[in-house]
Amino acid sequence: MRYSNEQVRAAAEQLREKFEGLEEKQAIRRAPELTALYDQLKTMPPEGRAGFGKDVNVLKNEIEGWVKEHNLPILKRSAIDVTAPLDINSPKPELLSTQFGSRHPLMSELENILGIFARMGFTAVESRQLDDDYHMFTSLNFPQGHPARDEYDTFVTQEGLIAPAHTSVMQNRVLKNTKPPVRVVIPGRTFRNEDLDARHEHTFYQLEGIYVDKGINAGNLIATLKAFLEEYYGQTLEVKTQPFYFPFTEPSFEFTLSCPFCSKKGCNICSQSGWIELLGCGMIHPNVLKEGGIDPNEYTGFAWGCGIDRLVMMKNGIEDVRNFHSGNLNFLRQFS
Ligand code: DAH
Repeated sequence: MRYSNEQVRAAAEQLREKFEGLEEKQAIRRAPELTALYDQLKTMPPEGRAGFGKDVNVLKNEIEGWVKEHNLPILKRSAIDVTAPLDINSPKPELLSTQFGSRHPLMSELENILGIFARMGFTAVESRQLDDDYHMFTSLNFPQGHPARDEYDTFVTQEGLIAPAHTSVMQNRVLKNTKPPVRVVIPGRTFRNEDLDARHEHTFYQLEGIYVDKGINAGNLIATLKAFLEEYYGQTLEVKTQPFYFPFTEPSFEFTLSCPFCSKKGCNICSQSGWIELLGCGMIHPNVLKEGGIDPNEYTGFAWGCGIDRLVMMKNGIEDVRNFHSGNLNFLRQFS
């Protein structure tokens, strides 16, 4: 053992710890713990003094060693692991205190939206940010080479993986993994090669919904979406459906609601029309149910896909979708 005296050993440990934390390393030579040992030595009875003095001397040399080692050129001081992942050799940056942060408006609104659907009996499953051709198209009844595939200008990796252009990529997985009744909402980040403007972003959020059970019809679809929107906007609304085309629903609809901001009088948000075309929906195509392992002769279901950014923009009077990903603190602080 380096120290026979317990007190010096304890002081050595304390000093080492202190040394690690010191910015001005030389200051360790003047540490009060060390001075106290010297003072004690002076007033000690002669019997114990020799042994104690020897230990204090060893400690003093050790401290000199630390200071000297610290002053060596960097390369000699500590080995740098050049094979380490990321840069673990450099000091960690200080983290800003969370008191300066706030939740992103998209995320707090999403929580709100999922809360409404949870109360309506829907569970939530998160979508994914990388997927494949099967889930993006084939499982959703887009035959190979079908022109409807061109509606989605997708980002594709060199390996052929696809950044999902809609949360419908999750339909097949949810149908395969859930025994009817299926009541699931799927929030997710979606990506499209868009020309960017105040209404179009390459990265945005969607909320997919799926409901499958015996005897489900389009009336159930309209009632469910109306109930959700009335709860979200806190008022009674009128809704309309127009026929549309999606390969994965039959019939397919475009779902329109009366403008919650002007009660159909016409305003900026509804482009003076009094109505807002909000989302795509329909009765799930039998081929999609079959591909998901559900017998379309026994079960029917509806599905929808809605842009979350759009809902949040309308609710908060946000005029430019690009604000969401801009990192603009003046924008974000309005929601803190
Ligand atoms: N996936 C469609 C889109 O992003 C939206 C959609 C329409 C989703 C109808 C559905 C649906 O589930 O039934 O363009």
